Amino acid sequence: MSNDIPAILGGEPIGSLDDFPWPPASDAIREALDRVYRSGDWGRYHGAECDALESELQEYLGCQYVELCCSGTAAVELALRGVKVGQGDEVILSAYDFKGNFADVLAVGGTPVLVDPLAANWNFDPKRLEDAVSDKTKAILVSHLHGGIVPMQQVMDFAVTHGLKVVEDAAQTPGARISGRQAGTWGHVGVYSFGGSKLLSAGRGGAVFTNDGPIAQRIRLHCQRGNHAYPLSELQSAVVRPQLAVLDGMNEIRAKIVKALLLHISEADGLSILKNEASDSSPGYYKVGFKFCVEAFCGLDRDQFSEAMRAEGIALSPGFRSLHRIHSTKRFRAVGELKNADEADERMIVLSHPGLLAGIVFVEHFLRAFERIKGEAERIRSGLGS
Ligand SMILES: Cc1ncc(COP(=O)(O)O)c(C=O)c1O
Repeated sequence: MSNDIPAILGGEPIGSLDDFPWPPASDAIREALDRVYRSGDWGRYHGAECDALESELQEYLGCQYVELCCSGTAAVELALRGVKVGQGDEVILSAYDFKGNFADVLAVGGTPVLVDPLAANWNFDPKRLEDAVSDKTKAILVSHLHGGIVPMQQVMDFAVTHGLKVVEDAAQTPGARISGRQAGTWGHVGVYSFGGSKLLSAGRGGAVFTNDGPIAQRIRLHCQRGNHAYPLSELQSAVVRPQLAVLDGMNEIRAKIVKALLLHISEADGLSILKNEASDSSPGYYKVGFKFCVEAFCGLDRDQFSEAMRAEGIALSPGFRSLHRIHSTKRFRAVGELKNADEADERMIVLSHPGLLAGIVFVEHFLRAFERIKGEAERIRSGLGS
């Protein structure tokens, strides 16, 4: 079979998604599991591994209080509770964000107020705050998404002026720097996820962190029902610890490989990377977000393109659905037109991180797949029946 036939049309795949497994095979993770097994403490509700992870996160983040919990989604809900969002309160967030964040606002009795994201990177745009704020606003919920960076100084300045609290969701960006500071530590309270595909993975899990004593106390009280109601286990804590120890080094590799990829892929090719304005920053690449331009691919649409790339072993997929398009208008307040969120809904395409750690071979793999799919875009489009 000719090498030029795309895998999605029956050709030999260039590679496989299994070439880049996650979480990674790691002796340190295996040793951590063995250690907890041997200690016999893996049945404990809260033991030495949870304590150690809490202290290591405190040190890494420079935060006095860390509460481990069972997911990033639970962490966002706890953070909202920590800043006292309740019945009738409004929370401002980007119309392009993780669906669970919208649900978390509703879960605590609040109303999501959706603002248009920034055109350059489809992340939260602080310039929208002025039009969004009302006498019901209690908090701002900001996520750094897909290699995008939100200029947190602007968010914090606005929040302080208006007496609002900021929840900073760094689920996708552990270890990223925003204007010289750790992502997640700008807000009054920050959030990590240890979900299965995340840069720090425990299969499931999360953490909430803050330097504000009363916020920490509210979160702790909400979790304590005799036992912790949203716990992270000893085994989960144990496997996160060695990953945290190498996170900065891994982030450097990921950033280097994204840079190498961008030497070859640009707007003219139909994929343009999200652009950040904040200086002295380094994004987190849990996903690498691109704007997809259908015209560059002979009408092959984003979903078909990502499916064809996945068949070649490149983990591209459509981004999130924008929140105003998947929820009843009764459940949120929209601020102005959400044109950038409409675009993000239709054009965001994201590359999952595991391949980046394979280094330059991944760049070569990506480019071969890209050229093949682009060269055969017309055939793929008709072959997939559009
Ligand atoms: C920005 C963001 N926030 C929160 C979450 C929720 O994390 P979890 O899957 O651990 O509940 C995710 C998950 O992908 C996310 O991307």
